[in-house]
Amino acid sequence: MLRLFFGVPIPSSARDALDRIAEGVPHARWVPEDNYHVTLSYLGEVPARKLEEVEAAARAVRTQPFTLSLESVGVFPRRPPARVLWAGVRAEPLLLRLQRRIERELAELGFLPEARKFHPHVTLARLAPDASREAVSDWLAHHLSFRVAEFPVTRFHLYASVRTPGGSQYEVCSVYPLRAVGSP
Ligand code: 2AM
Repeated sequence: MLRLFFGVPIPSSARDALDRIAEGVPHARWVPEDNYHVTLSYLGEVPARKLEEVEAAARAVRTQPFTLSLESVGVFPRRPPARVLWAGVRAEPLLLRLQRRIERELAELGFLPEARKFHPHVTLARLAPDASREAVSDWLAHHLSFRVAEFPVTRFHLYASVRTPGGSQYEVCSVYPLRAVGSP
């Protein structure tokens, strides 16, 4: 079985900005900088023999390149205790379209679409239950005005999440360049 998800990688300029705010909350497990991404669709455990059809489905997705910017920070779930610290992604219509198109192709293969509304974000940390609520509120207040200027998004990835003793590692299975409809 492979644990698969589609996501948009974050370029190194934005990764550095994210890395600078990824600190200051005791008991947080900070995501390694190389793992930063925006999840588009999480497939869960998929039999290896299905990989090829998942890859083919993603090749059928046609969306033009776009730009993204990051703004502010937040937590999941909204009600304490927080489990995840994240940086927000501005709701860019072409990102939302890309996410919808991937989910549509996956639905054809029998993958159920995510029931929750798509809330684009970059996960920065996962919190242990004993993380202090006060430290989380302070971190939120301190980074509320976090901003990263627009960066281009020219591709998305299929990732495999591999559990290692040091935490999950994300391996790129396939790369999908974005291109306008009608381009070769
Ligand atoms: P995230 O984007 O909020 O971090 C690999 O686990 C990636 O898939 C993570 O980035 C994670 O969320 C995302 N994901 C979405 N739904 C998930 C789920 N039910 N279980 C694990 N990961 C999930």
